[in-house]
Amino acid sequence: MHHATTRLSASDLQQMPSRYRAMLVNSLSGFKSANLLATVSLSGCTNLAMISSVFHLGADPALLGMIMRPHTVPRDSLENLLATGDYTLNHVHPGMLSAAHQTAARYAADVSEFDAVGLTAEFGSMLAAPYVRESRLNIGLRLVEQHTLQVNGTVLVIGEVVEVLLPPSVIADDGHVQIERLQSVCVSGLDHYHLTESLGRLPYAKPG
Ligand SMILES: Cc1cc2nc3c(=O)[nH]c(=O)nc-3n(C[C@H](O)[C@H](O)[C@H](O)COP(=O)(O)O)c2cc1C
Repeated sequence: MHHATTRLSASDLQQMPSRYRAMLVNSLSGFKSANLLATVSLSGCTNLAMISSVFHLGADPALLGMIMRPHTVPRDSLENLLATGDYTLNHVHPGMLSAAHQTAARYAADVSEFDAVGLTAEFGSMLAAPYVRESRLNIGLRLVEQHTLQVNGTVLVIGEVVEVLLPPSVIADDGHVQIERLQSVCVSGLDHYHLTESLGRLPYAKPG
């Protein structure tokens, strides 16, 4: 045990002011990826949102999951990806960080966050949803499942990877993608962003 430990019970957390609690609890899950979720509405309005909940779900087929906040208020990104069936995830590097963060602001549904923050929508041939041109790694996905979670009404969105765009030089011989060389940023808490420092690789773990 540490010499000095702050012990917080569930009721301590409950009694915190909501903003303070959100800051503290959002820090507990560790460093998370920072991705820009890009979508387009059926009427053609593009949308961008910062997302820190993307996770790997499977490699064959290639699947990514993410958690979207409750669908109780209009959620442009979620509505768009449910309507069109596709979306893209785009890594963030330091040169585009402040623009990327600003996409979390509550813009009206008919305002494109691309225009509002000064990022560029680039359309490929595979998907209706645009990529973020400034990003160094882009992933195109097609929606395969969505589940509203009983516990708090958040929505689990699962997509199959249909296309990946990245510089060839960062793919290692064994397939590992050296995202640190792209300066892909990660996020802790709600709004603290980080570059990473590699600790190298370890051999495949075996018992004994
Ligand atoms: C660092 C960071 C991480 C976020 N992660 C998520 C997330 O994982 N899921 C989510 O639904 N919203 C997340 N948000 C909030 C969305 O970015 C925000 O609700 C969204 O931009 C709202 O736009 P929309 O209504 O156009 O979808 C995050 C915001 C920030 C700043």
